[in-house]
Amino acid sequence: MSEAQALFDRFIDDVHRVWAAEPDMGARMAQTKPLFEKLVAQPAMQAASADWPSTEGRKNLLLHTDPTFGFVINAVVRVPGRKGSVHDHAQAYVLYGLLEGTESLERYDRVDDGSRADYAEVKLTGVTMGGPGTVDLVPPYAIHAEQGGPSRSVALIFRSEVLVGRLLQHGYDPATNAVIERSGPVQIPFSL
Ligand SMILES: [Fe+2]
Repeated sequence: MSEAQALFDRFIDDVHRVWAAEPDMGARMAQTKPLFEKLVAQPAMQAASADWPSTEGRKNLLLHTDPTFGFVINAVVRVPGRKGSVHDHAQAYVLYGLLEGTESLERYDRVDDGSRADYAEVKLTGVTMGGPGTVDLVPPYAIHAEQGGPSRSVALIFRSEVLVGRLLQHGYDPATNAVIERSGPVQIPFSL
């Protein structure tokens, strides 16, 4: 077994312990964040991601779907300068942790009255830069975008539940204020 696989398996065991002891999803995810930070900071994990395939074309690598608790671990491999779309993850909590490269995480507020399902005015409220080892916790329905940096970037994504094929998420177009409902990225099964 590779060192990355062993670290990954240990992380899953640690998450199982946290989730078994804590029923509240927000608290589970807050307690999972430091474990995830430790995982994406591991040099062996970062090195393993160097030859992961590109996920261009709205794809994610699917590393794990948890049979006990239903959480999902994906990876995304972005080309340099990748423009990210503005979106939410519906009711799911998401931890987004960088393994390689730099990205900026943009956060948006919805500033209209929310009365129309197909229309939203969104306003950029903050940008945080991340590099290898940085983890962001994205709460349910938080509107955000991940923007690629000047080089290839790789992130691990921990989702609190299965979304693709189950729940629709929202894409926001700040130029036209259109909102579209859409399924998540195509899931490509992948082993470490
Ligand atoms: Fe996202």
